[in-house]
Amino acid sequence: MKTETTIQGLSASLNPARTARKIIGFVPTMGNLHQGHLNLVREARKICDVVVVSIFVNPIQFGPNEDFDSYPRTLDQDQQLLADVGCDIVFAPSVEQMYAKKPRLTNISVSDITDDLCGLQRPGHFDGVAVVVTKLFNIVQPNYAFFGQKDYQQLAVIRQFVQDLNIPLEVIGVPIARAEDGLALSSRNGYLSAEHRQIAPTIYKSLKAAELELQQGIGLDTVLANIRQTLSAAGFEIDYVEARTPELQKIETFNQDVVLFIAAKIGQTRLIDNLQVKFNP
Ligand code: PAF
Repeated sequence: MKTETTIQGLSASLNPARTARKIIGFVPTMGNLHQGHLNLVREARKICDVVVVSIFVNPIQFGPNEDFDSYPRTLDQDQQLLADVGCDIVFAPSVEQMYAKKPRLTNISVSDITDDLCGLQRPGHFDGVAVVVTKLFNIVQPNYAFFGQKDYQQLAVIRQFVQDLNIPLEVIGVPIARAEDGLALSSRNGYLSAEHRQIAPTIYKSLKAAELELQQGIGLDTVLANIRQTLSAAGFEIDYVEARTPELQKIETFNQDVVLFIAAKIGQTRLIDNLQVKFNP
């Protein structure tokens, strides 16, 4: 496995694969890898000849009061984990390499689906994601790109601009990886104190309870109120508890699939999760 830190170096490493028309798979990450990321690499390994993983903590997707400075950076450990799951090339550029020194005058902004959920709580976040992911797509030029479904809204935003801008690759969403107690794996779980780590799985438990209630025919408003009640009682500060269609539209009728979304803070740590509930007549 090679690690490249410059765009030029990465191109040189990828050129033989490009010339040989090999299938290139790409997993963009911010590092501090866990099994969720490694599952993305395993999925890429199944269908691609060459697997590239980027590790880049992208400053422009963090708000002024967010955790850019303290975000865990664990490159050596990440490289070891990636070598073990069969990654071919790690791309770990510096901020200067990605954004040069000149001011950036171009933005990529997906409307509608970003005016909701995390987009309301984190203004500018999805523009920052769209810009860096587009840059990475142009640098790596993969055939397939893999993203986790935990960041459901992010995945929808990426699918949207890939389609709108005719970016020639296929986006693949990979199911959420969970700890044994149900907590969705996230690099931010590392911020949790032992006490808060015990409480954190309440998020998934409340989603599963809600699924059961919906299947029993309990109304959506009551189900969402029950989740809010459970989370508040466990000590969470709720950012949002919402239901949307799988396309992230408001729910208009009861007889359809819904995705339940939670963003909530325990202590200083903001956690997100989601669960799709199929409508079974
Ligand atoms: O999901 C992430 O880790 C990041 O938002 C991404 C897609 C790597 C862009 O920085």
